[in-house]
Amino acid sequence: MAAQNNAPLPDGLEIAGYRIVKKIASGGFSIVYLAYDTEGVAVAIKEYLPSSLALRQEGELVPAVSKAHLPVFRIGLKCFFEEGRALARISHPNVVSVLNFFRAHETVYMVMAYESGHSLQEHIQRQRSKGVKVGELFIRTIFTQAVKGLREVHANKLLHLDLKPANIYLRTDGTPMLLDFGAARQTINTDMPTLTPMYTPGFAPPELYAKTGMGPWTDIYSIGASMFACMVGSPPQPADQRKLEDKMAGHFEKLEGQYSPELVQLVRWCLQIDPLERPQSLFALQKVLQAKPPAAAPAEPPAPTMMDKLRGLVGRLGGGGSNAARAKAGPDTLV
Ligand SMILES: Nc1ncnc2c1ncn2[C@@H]1O[C@H](COP(=O)(O)OP(=O)(O)OP(=O)(O)O)[C@@H](O)[C@H]1O
Ligand SMILES: [Mg+2]
Repeated sequence: MAAQNNAPLPDGLEIAGYRIVKKIASGGFSIVYLAYDTEGVAVAIKEYLPSSLALRQEGELVPAVSKAHLPVFRIGLKCFFEEGRALARISHPNVVSVLNFFRAHETVYMVMAYESGHSLQEHIQRQRSKGVKVGELFIRTIFTQAVKGLREVHANKLLHLDLKPANIYLRTDGTPMLLDFGAARQTINTDMPTLTPMYTPGFAPPELYAKTGMGPWTDIYSIGASMFACMVGSPPQPADQRKLEDKMAGHFEKLEGQYSPELVQLVRWCLQIDPLERPQSLFALQKVLQAKPPAAAPAEPPAPTMMDKLRGLVGRLGGGGSNAARAKAGPDTLV
């Protein structure tokens, strides 16, 4: 069955004590809705509906699954449920909070706390459309927290396996949370090609293509790729192509003029093709991310402005210790 567009549940539908408000997103494996519980609290409900296996027509609630696809659909359903159960055990500010899951319409629904915000991917696109680069302080702040969430995930014996800016969600207060653990469930089904998700090229390390030898280092590659995407605006060269002709060195060189060598080095380290050459623990990553970024001088220091001269004068007069390095680097705004 070719992938198709499934009809979402109708707005206003009551289901297991929740009222669907509207569809907020749909992907290859699911549809996400905004809904309210009986107390009027907003929740996000994710409905298992793999578009290559199930078809729901407009006006229907139960999707049609052909006999041939039923076994695979059921395995996916069980795994979706397991994923929800594993996630429900995790309580961390940087991991999406799963509140409940239930069965209806011959499929499964995962209920999450609704968070208003937008994905890191949208943030990158917005910044680029304004011609603004994503700043170093922002990258360090967001990824320090995302890595904290990921440590908790790994501590619960789960791997994410589909980390990318589209699956890192930024709440309106700016804190990130990890979303979409859909790929985690796929690992159980290495013999089920029809359920294998299409990994976004560029974010997946070679072991994900090979489906063997996955571990925390696999998510570490994707974290590096996501930081790279923040810096460059597009994902790194896909790992399978890198194995033939690696063009990443040139990109890293260009980045060195724009970000501190420590941050560029960290991204380079995470993006090693050989898993053994990557940081072996998230703790190692956290240490670099949290280290005070050195006040890197831009490639060509700008000529001092009138304000700079004034600041220097105030400094010399003892008006609060002017920091030449800081003044040169400029404030790294949280963008
Ligand atoms: N808890 C939540 N609160 C608010 N919005 C959410 C929440 N969970 C998901 N969303 C929204 O739904 C979008 C898609 O979610 P998610 O990444 O989990 O699914 P998906 O990519 O469609 O999954 P799949 O590829 O497995 O079908 C997110 O980018 C976000 O906009
Ligand atoms: Mg997603």
